[in-house]
Amino acid sequence: MSGFDKDWLALREPVDMRARAMPLVPQLAGILDKRERPVVLDIGCGTGSTFRSLSKHLPAGVCWHLLDYDPLLLAEAERRIGKRADVTFRQFDLNAIESLDLSEVNVVTASALFDLCSAAFCDMFAASLVASSTGLYAALNYDGVMEWSIVHPLDQQVADDFNRHQHYDKGFGPALGPDATEHLRQCFGSAGYDIAIASSPWIMGPEDEALQVAFLRGLRRPLVEVGLLTENEIQAWLQFRLDKISESGSSCVVGHTDILALPRF
Ligand SMILES: C[S@@+](CC[C@H](N)C(=O)[O-])C[C@H]1O[C@@H](n2cnc3c(N)ncnc32)[C@H](O)[C@@H]1O
Repeated sequence: MSGFDKDWLALREPVDMRARAMPLVPQLAGILDKRERPVVLDIGCGTGSTFRSLSKHLPAGVCWHLLDYDPLLLAEAERRIGKRADVTFRQFDLNAIESLDLSEVNVVTASALFDLCSAAFCDMFAASLVASSTGLYAALNYDGVMEWSIVHPLDQQVADDFNRHQHYDKGFGPALGPDATEHLRQCFGSAGYDIAIASSPWIMGPEDEALQVAFLRGLRRPLVEVGLLTENEIQAWLQFRLDKISESGSSCVVGHTDILALPRF
């Protein structure tokens, strides 16, 4: 189990879909269009959200390999996508990235993954992609922005604590959190790749109440673990936020960025 359950991923998927920076996608499609047998490897695929978002915008004939270490999420991805000749599912721990054969892969895709990863992992990962002239499309990397339409005096402290927690180990060593996109830009930029970055914020309005509530409930643990706010302060802030959604339809912006890094041919 990865700790990302399928219900949480299902709740966020519509907002992720709205948030994704679609202007990056034609360039991604363009590089695959030049290949005779285009191959995409989606890492940390969860239940297949990136496949559902991108596949209809990519050229016909793309072969997809979906990879995750969580068998429950992979099973759900397979259930939702169905058995197809052009999609495979594989259980694999990305910590063994060096053993992954990328020779046939044109582009690695990911979403909501790299903020969990460490700088050391990204360096190793980028070196593997560069060695095989493979491109990267990495969407929905959290960028540190958390803003609410109705302010509370503790908002900045909460955002600061959450961003501090974003650097805690999420299974790859100290995580990059909000620094992920910039780190990837440096890795691939220094290897001579063409880089495009675009913002992809979650904009959660009153119609996204269920996601707002789940997001707020998920903040409690990181805030407690960072330990700079008291239990009472955390409880008061969370209760204020939950009340404002139901009473006043408050909205929230959680910033993300998408990055596309493609080798020059
Ligand atoms: C936030 S979820 C994103 C899932 C999906 N890409 C999406 O956008 O809905 C992060 C995903 O990374 C996977 N993951 C985390 N650590 C991993 C590892 N070491 N190896 C493989 N997958 C991993 C989790 O199982 C989870 O599916």
